[in-house]
This record gives sequence, structure tokens and C-alpha cells, in this order.
Amino acid sequence: MEKILVTGALGQIGSELVVKLREIYGTNNVIATNRRIKEGYEALIESGPFEIVDVIDIKEMAQAVDKHKVDTIINLAAILSAKGEKDPTSCWNINMNGLYNVLELGREKRLQIFTPSSIGAFGPSTPQDNTPQNTIQRPTTMYGVTKVAGELLCDYYFKKFNVDTRGVRFPGLISYESLPGGGTTDYAVHIYYEALKYKKYTSFIAKGTKMDMMYMPDALDAIVNLMEADPSRLINRNAFNVTAMSFEPEEIANEIKKHIVDFEMYYDVDPERQAIADSWPNSLDDSAAREEWDWNPKYDLEAMTKDMLEKLRVKLDIND
Ligand code: SER
Repeated sequence: MEKILVTGALGQIGSELVVKLREIYGTNNVIATNRRIKEGYEALIESGPFEIVDVIDIKEMAQAVDKHKVDTIINLAAILSAKGEKDPTSCWNINMNGLYNVLELGREKRLQIFTPSSIGAFGPSTPQDNTPQNTIQRPTTMYGVTKVAGELLCDYYFKKFNVDTRGVRFPGLISYESLPGGGTTDYAVHIYYEALKYKKYTSFIAKGTKMDMMYMPDALDAIVNLMEADPSRLINRNAFNVTAMSFEPEEIANEIKKHIVDFEMYYDVDPERQAIADSWPNSLDDSAAREEWDWNPKYDLEAMTKDMLEKLRVKLDIND
């Protein structure tokens, strides 16, 4: 990785990854791209090379790759699970056709490619506990369909065309910098904001629903460490299970109560997002990632909660 183009750079992962990559690889070696300018991201847009690029337009993509002499694409442009159920056509178009374009450029221009998959690539017939690296994948959302197909397509481009494709199955990602947009795991981000602002939160996910989660600094490390890993060690290139913790709404609420004693949790379950959550694993087995590229997350629920609340207090200017 020397000249890195990030798609979806103003999204949940991209807006933080660009900052980290610029620290490691140099500001001018990281090209942030997004299909549109988003309000509130002016500082990021002005902090280094930025191009308006739509992943579904291969000509626009190719121009940006050539202009900046890119050797790596980190393809983060995607529609998440709940939003994808509201608009399956856009979900297919961006997640699938966007990835196809990225892979085609990878083949033509010999690029290294990172694509995130997700716990959404699993479905109700997948073993729910300690979900193995290789197991049944019959997801019931359009998001999941695009993620499984994407994993297979990345494997195909590696085997058939020797494109250096790599990827992980991310769980729900939690951060204080940027908000997720339209995911099923988003409750685990919103809860921190509302706990600080109102000392209460109404969860759209039911009590007892366990899902895998990860704090953003670990997710960013996962991307960099996998992309820098010795390729001869990689067996599962494109779909490594990775996780840092697994919890249900009561557990995160109880952890928050240790810091905000009068915090109260309520429930108003959204049947659509609950059905998606119920179809996903309770906890992943990430031993392949640990063995093949030394995956080792730093934050558990306790450490993440402490850091989230500290950082958000400053960001939201809350002193009590
Ligand atoms: N966080 C994502 C979602 O909820 C899962 O990959 O859609």
C-alpha cells in the first residue's frame, strides 16, 4: 500500500480510516473519494486529496485511479442492512456493481483491494454461537446477499486473475467520531449519545439479542494489519470472521450505568430490524484471523464504554 484510494470516505468507517491512513502513509498518498459532498465533513475534505467519485461509474473510478497513480483501493462505499431493506435496488447497485467495478480496475491495473464483508453475510440457518469461519451462509437481507456474493467475487478475482483481494466480516462498529447510517447494530452507538444527553435510551433491538460488536480503533487496525499481512499466511483472504465482543442491550446498558448511575433503558422494538438481528450470529469464532494475521482486538465492552463516554462528553460538551 503506497497510494491508497478510499471509496465511501465520508461514511462511518471511511471518515476515520482516511485520517489514520494519512498518519501512517502520508497525507498525499491517501485519496478520499465519495459520491457526494456531505455537510459536516469540510475539515476531512480539505485535509488532503479528495475526489467526487461514484463507485457505480467505472470511468470516474478509473480516472481517479490513473490521476493519483493508485495501487490500492479500500472499497467502503456500501448501503447497510436496514437501509438496504428499504431500498434493495440501490443496495444491490452500490454494493455489488460498485464492487465489480473496483475488482475490474484491480484486474486491469494490478491493484490491491480491501472489501469489508459483515456478520450480515450469515442467516437464520447459520450456527448462532461461536459461528465458524466456514459455515452455512443463507442470509435473508439484500445486504447479506450482496455481502456473500461479494466475498465469492473477491475470491474469484484472486483465484482467476491473481488480484490481491482481502477482507473481513465486520460486526457492528461503534465510534464517537461518526454515526452509522441505516444499520441494525446502530443502537449500540446511539445508546451512548442518548445516555449522555438524556440519561435514557429506547432500544429498537429487544432484550436478550446478542450480536458481535467492535470499537472503531480495532476495526481500523484490522484493515491496516490485514492489508499489510504476509500473503503467504492467508488462507481465508476475503471473509475473515473478526470480533471484539458480543453483548445484548441489557449488558451495554449495565455497563453504561457504571458511569451514569441514573441511566434508564426502555424498549420499543422495531420488528424489521429485530428480524435482521435475530437472523445474525450471537458470537463469531475469529480464530482464523488470529492465526493467519495475528488479529488481536484491544477493546472489550468495559474498555470501549469508558473511552466512548469520555470522548463523547468532550465532543457533546456535557460536564455532569
Ligand atoms: N453494522 C452493519 C449493519 O447493521 C452490519 O454489518 O448493517
